Amino acid sequence: MRDRLNTVRKSKVPGPLIDHWIRPEIRTLSHYHVPDATGMIKLDAMENPYSLPDSLVDEWLERLRELELNRYPDAGAEILKEKLSGYLGLSPDQEILLGNGSDELIQIIAMALSGPDRVLMAPEPGFVMYRLIARSLGLRYVGVPLVQDDFHLDQTAMLKAIEENNPAVIFLAYPNNPTGNLFDRQVIESIIDATNGLVVIDEAYHSFALDSWIGDLGRFDNLLVMRTLSKIGLAGLRIGMLAGAKSWLDELNKIRLPYNINALSQASAVFLLEHGEVFEQQAAQIRADREQMYARLESIPQIEVWPSRANFLLIRSRLSQVILKRLKKNNILIKNLHGSHEMLAQCLRITIGTTEENQAVLDTMKELI
Ligand SMILES: Cc1ncc(COP(=O)(O)O)c(C=O)c1O
Repeated sequence: MRDRLNTVRKSKVPGPLIDHWIRPEIRTLSHYHVPDATGMIKLDAMENPYSLPDSLVDEWLERLRELELNRYPDAGAEILKEKLSGYLGLSPDQEILLGNGSDELIQIIAMALSGPDRVLMAPEPGFVMYRLIARSLGLRYVGVPLVQDDFHLDQTAMLKAIEENNPAVIFLAYPNNPTGNLFDRQVIESIIDATNGLVVIDEAYHSFALDSWIGDLGRFDNLLVMRTLSKIGLAGLRIGMLAGAKSWLDELNKIRLPYNINALSQASAVFLLEHGEVFEQQAAQIRADREQMYARLESIPQIEVWPSRANFLLIRSRLSQVILKRLKKNNILIKNLHGSHEMLAQCLRITIGTTEENQAVLDTMKELI
């Protein structure tokens, strides 16, 4: 037996093994880079700058004490789903699917819809994970340019792209990242009507826009709405939710990995959603600070800033790379968008932080300009 095994020959592959086995579309991708932010004012990832109030921390830790970590979490996260249905204001015929962040939900949707020559479509510039996930799962990605200047949806281009590519799914971030604007409702409706694919409205920044499509779910049979707890102050829990008709979600649920929401996250979210007013107050503060920051940036010569309905601002400046470097020197991390898309030349994205953090950004800019 041993001798026979020894005589089995490995078949040869042409060239390096990695090139042979890893699909070419993955070989050409780059890993999603997260810079080290140790000791820095972190304004690059649209996190909420406020931590949990001290008054809640003890009570929260007390809840965690009850957990049996030797057991798998509730596979269906039923208690959390019930809490979230109330939080989202869903009607009884609407369901929820949870993901390890909305990133995982995008992946689940793309996995379920992928196939030869299937297309995932999104406006550009947009959230990079749509493209990255589409490519990694063998879907053809079609990015439809927004209209330069104010980044509104190009209705004609979108409808033409739908006709030409028959997308399996269209992602529309509402508000859009990194441009911060809300797309026109009527244009979105015309897109939902024109496509026979699924449309996912990604409301990651809902708390800062206070405008939603959840109330419209019943009007369309090809619409789902996605939200996340990340931007309201719970990014560390990794909880994303997809809301819509049971028929769609039942299918997607078949490929969700069991136990994708861990026990610590489930228990924490259930507890923290009982204190939703804390996050609402923080979001209100961020919205007010965003408006103040917008006005201040607008008054700085050589800086162009776009109005935003999210918790970040997009700016453009001839001095973008100098600003970036100086902020870094002053221990402030923001997102460089220059080079990421042709419409974002000389652009930077600044997450709204605490009032003091925002002031630190403004002080650095005034030092320079
Ligand atoms: C538009 C949009 N959707 C989804 C996400 C991902 O959120 P999550 O933390 O839930 O994976 C982001 C994160 O930046 C985003 O900008």
